[in-house]
Amino acid sequence: MKKQPKRIGLAIIGAGRVGLFRGEVAARHPMVDFIGVCDLKKDRRDLVASKVNADFVTDDFQELLQRKEITAAIISTDEHLHVEPILAAVERNLSLMIEKPLATELKDSERVLKAIQKSKVDAVVGYTQRFRRRWLAAKEKVRTGQLGDVTMVTSRAFMNRLVALDNYRRTSDPSKISPMVISGTHALDIVMWMMEAKRPVEVYARSIDKALGPLCKGIDATAGMITFEDGSIYHASISWALPVVWPGAVYSLEVGITGTDGVLTIDDTHRDIVLATTVSQSEGYAPDAARRVDFLGSYPPGDMALGELRGPMREETEQWLNRVCMGLTTQHATAAEAHNRLMLTKAFDLSAKLKRAVPLPISSEDMA
Ligand SMILES: NC(=O)c1ccc[n+]([C@@H]2O[C@H](COP(=O)([O-])OP(=O)(O)OC[C@H]3O[C@@H](n4cnc5c(N)ncnc54)[C@H](O)[C@@H]3O)[C@@H](O)[C@H]2O)c1
Repeated sequence: MKKQPKRIGLAIIGAGRVGLFRGEVAARHPMVDFIGVCDLKKDRRDLVASKVNADFVTDDFQELLQRKEITAAIISTDEHLHVEPILAAVERNLSLMIEKPLATELKDSERVLKAIQKSKVDAVVGYTQRFRRRWLAAKEKVRTGQLGDVTMVTSRAFMNRLVALDNYRRTSDPSKISPMVISGTHALDIVMWMMEAKRPVEVYARSIDKALGPLCKGIDATAGMITFEDGSIYHASISWALPVVWPGAVYSLEVGITGTDGVLTIDDTHRDIVLATTVSQSEGYAPDAARRVDFLGSYPPGDMALGELRGPMREETEQWLNRVCMGLTTQHATAAEAHNRLMLTKAFDLSAKLKRAVPLPISSEDMA
């Protein structure tokens, strides 16, 4: 650990929901002495700039990255718009926190990973769930052999369709995104992180599009199975087409991990705190007016309380800033892991499309 922490000049590229959350956390960090904010939308950059007391504001990420004060960058643009800002930040040799997924196309993800590895910049990707105690506890039990040899994992992710509708609205090509690529990637990362000693060799999946297909050419749900080299199996299902009245704000998850000597089950459905109200929320996650019941805690970044974000995205951002200024080791996902998660989610989609098992790994050529 460095005894003398380094100062941080932070670029925030993409001042949407996540850019604001992370920016507010960064503004409180003792080593961040310069913040530059970039967004294409004037209302977003002005809002975030005022909330984080920004030193520099622009709509051009190249202009921001050229500022000599900048030493690190958060890339929090829309999912399909990460690539150009990442490549520009890599060019400047900045420490990077990139939102998931690394890219939405496998060929872009390959390109980005290559550039990151070649430059040796320290780049982490926002798999925020790794900062929740329940997943850390599970990781530790698996890692220390409390379950014996893990032989089967199941994950079931249920999501309110508001997230899917928002994502399909923001993209120009609905075929480029899917429940697996955008959201299933969180559950998949948690499981693959726990299974990191095992090599996935095949995926078999099916999808359905009866609800979102007619609405936005979207996919509702995908279920599938990964087989590992040693024969162990991971069964994953996700639906992001639950009706708007479903009380979960975003993500509800159930995971079961069985091994030769133990089993661990995690109920992460957030049914433990239920809010019912006729009053609209003003801060943090503001769901659609049709939703009047809320499973608190089901918004993955966390919840606002006393004017500050509380929850995993705060811890993830603080730990990243500590990593940058003091060289600490953290459990953030690496760019290589993020590329692996995109490859696996694309393989689920490919298997569902071809209606056959797909050998792993796949590359951008297999997608073509
Ligand atoms: N880890 C988590 O729990 C979590 C939660 C939500 C979102 N995310 C991820 O964070 C990212 C952002 O999501 P969001 O919900 O904040 O989206 P958002 O739509 O609220 O914000 C994205 C912002 O990026 C801006 N932008 C796009 N291209 C730009 C460019 N070239 N230069 C400057 N600004 C640009 C847009 O104008 C927009 O304001 C996505 O990758 C998403 O998947 C992660």
